[in-house]
Amino acid sequence: MTQLKSKGFIVIALVVVVISSLALAQDPPSTIKIDRIENLYKASNFDHKGHVEVSDSCKTCHHTYKKGAGPVKPCFDCHKAEVDENNPEMIGYKGALHLQCMGCHKENGIDNSCVSCHEKK
Ligand code: HEC
Ligand code: HEC
Ligand code: HEC
Ligand code: HEC
Repeated sequence: MTQLKSKGFIVIALVVVVISSLALAQDPPSTIKIDRIENLYKASNFDHKGHVEVSDSCKTCHHTYKKGAGPVKPCFDCHKAEVDENNPEMIGYKGALHLQCMGCHKENGIDNSCVSCHEKK
């Protein structure tokens, strides 16, 4: 059921994209704010403790962490919300989180539907 709902959501999102690109063809805006999802989903809840229990090491996720070299840094210190012009190859914040979270879930056969991490509003 969640599966079906999220497919329906993607179809709606595609329709919105098509409609807005028709509008773009007439009147190109200088900036586009991408926040379509914000009104549909809440930010994700993450059970850090539970995940420490199911992971081999802190480095599984904090992949740049070195023991004794200071505190664990938040992902956001290095993976920014927007493309870093000095380092355009660097994966952004959402991509880094999605790749890491969903990558491991996929390997372990855990639900990766949007609502498993982002509660519906
Ligand atoms: C399954 C992935 C995962 C594992 C394993 C994990 N963490 Fe985290 N941890 C995260 C995520 C995601 C955050 C949120 C980071 C952010 O806000 O950028 C976080 C946040 C933190 C923070 C807060 C950082 C800050 O300043 O906001 C600390 C400290 C931390 N983890 C320590 C650890 C330690 C120590 C271990 C090993 C015992 C560990 N973590 C294992 C994913 C993980
Ligand atoms: C100190 C800086 C730093 C921190 C903190 C950091 N990263 Fe990264 N991350 C990098 C760099 C640099 C790369 C690219 C080179 C590499 O793969 O190591 C990268 C690559 C990645 C990749 C692989 C991208 C690909 O193309 O395969 C993922 C996924 C990722 N980071 C997720 C995270 C997550 C999630 C966190 C927080 C739990 C985090 N990173 C914390 C610097 C950081
Ligand atoms: C290293 C592997 C790994 C990574 C990375 C990981 N997870 Fe998980 N996650 C798991 C495992 C294993 C479970 C199942 C745990 C259990 O059933 O007790 C799980 C379960 C969950 C659940 C509950 C899902 C359900 O349907 O019961 C949520 C929500 C979740 N993870 C969110 C996240 C988020 C958000 C991130 C990234 C910040 C993340 N996970 C990164 C391995 C991982
Ligand atoms: C395994 C967990 C997981 C799954 C599954 C997942 N996400 Fe996320 N997503 C995250 C995490 C963690 C973040 C970072 C959230 C934060 O720090 O506020 C994020 C961020 C986002 C953001 C940016 C949020 C913001 O506040 O800017 C969007 C948009 C998003 N996800 C959409 C989706 C959609 C659409 C799906 C389904 C196709 C999905 N996500 C599936 C974990 C997940």
